[in-house]
Amino acid sequence: MFTFNFNFPKDSLSLDELSNYSPWLEKILSSTSSKPIHRKSADSLLREYGIDKWGTLLKQLKMTQVPEVSIADSLCLGPDRVSAFFLNNKYYTAQLYDIHAAYSAFVMQVMAHYSKPNDHIVDLGAGYGSLSLKMSRIPTFSQNTFSLLEFTQPGVDCINLLSSRSQTITNIGLCDLNNLDISAYDLPAGSLFFTSWVLACLPSYLSSTIQKIIDLKPKYVIHFEPCFEFYNLAYPLSSFLWRKYTFLNDYNRTILGALTTFEAESKITFDCRVPNIFGCNPLCPISLLVWKPL
Ligand SMILES: C[S@@+](CC[C@H](N)C(=O)[O-])C[C@H]1O[C@@H](n2cnc3c(N)ncnc32)[C@H](O)[C@@H]1O
Repeated sequence: MFTFNFNFPKDSLSLDELSNYSPWLEKILSSTSSKPIHRKSADSLLREYGIDKWGTLLKQLKMTQVPEVSIADSLCLGPDRVSAFFLNNKYYTAQLYDIHAAYSAFVMQVMAHYSKPNDHIVDLGAGYGSLSLKMSRIPTFSQNTFSLLEFTQPGVDCINLLSSRSQTITNIGLCDLNNLDISAYDLPAGSLFFTSWVLACLPSYLSSTIQKIIDLKPKYVIHFEPCFEFYNLAYPLSSFLWRKYTFLNDYNRTILGALTTFEAESKITFDCRVPNIFGCNPLCPISLLVWKPL
């Protein structure tokens, strides 16, 4: 249904070769720990994103004459950083910037499929706005409006700098998916909500959060998220590595389960579930989950 437009190298990597691109394979195989190495908490995430990632980016963007999202992407992802990625059940290498460009193009393809002109698009956990800002600038989405909501103030500040007062971006502000209150943003019923690599950072996808999203009457809710529950299909060796990587990094392991509980109660229905589509991080590929309220 959805395809990845990626001019990837014809030679894939073996798992042994993959270990040249990630210190994690050795860590995973040697770890006997029954506890995560990197515990996630609100404080650790505020440190990781608010200070280290988006905080550093904000300082760099403030020194840039014309802050642009492509410049922000280059500052975060390049230049000349070769990295491994996962696609079609194989591992490859490419420039990190190009891997993320292919991922952005995939996100846009899915969002274009589910949206109509004039639909409002809500990006929850938008980071520095990379995906939505790019989306808002291409003709396919020229008639859509956007809300970019993010957990960290430096992320919000980056979005404000990069959005250059675009007319189609109607809300930029804070949100916390662990304690969701976005009523102040006045989001229209029938909006499309999406998350990309955000639920993964949370301890769980809370029932109260899912219910609050349902109460906002979305047209569709689209998740581009790693789903631990899908790390058990074919390819048992890769699945083992992905499960252990997810555990050691304390990423969410119950995203799909949280939603299937709502499905079992006939509160939502899935439109699409595609496991393990792509891994910008080869040890944690994302799946596509699309649902809507019943
Ligand atoms: C890996 S980044 C992804 C950013 C963006 N969605 C993307 O794909 O480019 C994870 C983002 O989730 C945000 N985040 C972490 N905890 C959150 C929470 N409780 N509520 C909303 N966003 C959160 C972080 O601040 C960070 O911007």
